[in-house]
Amino acid sequence: MTAIEVKDLVKKYDSITAVNGISLEVKSGEFFGFLGPNGAGKTTTIHILCTLLKPTSGSAKVNGYDCVTQALQVRSSIGLVFQETTLDRELSVYENLLFNCYLYNLKKKVAEARIDEILEVSGLKDRKHHSIMKLSGGMRRNLDIARGILHRPKILFLDEPTIGLDPQARIHIWDFINKLRKQEAMTVFLTTHYMEEAEKCDRIGIIDHGRLIALGTPAELKRMIKGDVIHLRTTRDLEIEQMIQKQFQLSTKRTPEGIFLEVDSGEAFIPLLFKTFGDQIQAININRPSLNDVFLHLTGREFK
Ligand SMILES: Nc1ncnc2c1ncn2[C@@H]1O[C@H](COP(=O)(O)OP(=O)(O)OP(=O)(O)O)[C@@H](O)[C@H]1O
Ligand SMILES: [Mg+2]
Repeated sequence: MTAIEVKDLVKKYDSITAVNGISLEVKSGEFFGFLGPNGAGKTTTIHILCTLLKPTSGSAKVNGYDCVTQALQVRSSIGLVFQETTLDRELSVYENLLFNCYLYNLKKKVAEARIDEILEVSGLKDRKHHSIMKLSGGMRRNLDIARGILHRPKILFLDEPTIGLDPQARIHIWDFINKLRKQEAMTVFLTTHYMEEAEKCDRIGIIDHGRLIALGTPAELKRMIKGDVIHLRTTRDLEIEQMIQKQFQLSTKRTPEGIFLEVDSGEAFIPLLFKTFGDQIQAININRPSLNDVFLHLTGREFK
């Protein structure tokens, strides 16, 4: 079954085209990642899918419901965790959760059971009656997510769930998300600009300037680059890049970080590089392609 169906979606804000003709489908149960740099259009797309914004043109369906004409049905079948926390700081953990249960018309008894269950899974059980002010950033984020799924949505939208958190807190949040995916068999639509998070998704859409520039499993996307990726820093990147292009007939990319080369075999190529430019090489790295390399390959820019 299709969980999300987007066709030729466009969203313009006056002179800015935030979403510029995106089409994609997400299957039921899939863990889908929307990966893109700042301002790429990720939040705008999620807000359209969650009926908070109307598209300028194109269409979007969520759980089979149209995001414009059947907004109520869409809303009751999804959970959304915003990029910025929306917890009420004046209330306790429990009160924040209870408030959401009321919004979804859950009966008190059901609400209490769900709250206890979700506190257990989110690792916040011993914080039930603490005020939000006393929680760490990671705990607040877990609570945001817990709150987003109290009504057992079929699809959970997570907009940058771990942004700004330290690595330890990010690990906890991922444990929680993974538990939820197993328990509830939910479709998860995630936006992120962390490559390592995107790596864990079943499929990824890479978005840049409002356009979907690549779509596939992490492995499929990385196969767009054959062989190895070499990252080179030299005393004069501009000239050396041109010389490499001429001498080895390679496509290269140059960024403020250095020169990137895609080669069939890094091991075979590095000795040739040293033979020609040895005294001008300051640093050299050879790696299997990452999603950052895929982005660089497609856009000529680093993923920042
Ligand atoms: N309410 C608005 N009015 C005008 N322009 C907006 C509005 N919201 C977003 N934009 C613009 O639309 C573009 C896409 O923004 P969006 O928030 O969707 O990006 P994003 O991919 O979520 O970025 P980030 O990673 O920084 O969260 C940006 O150029 C942004 O400045
Ligand atoms: Mg955003």
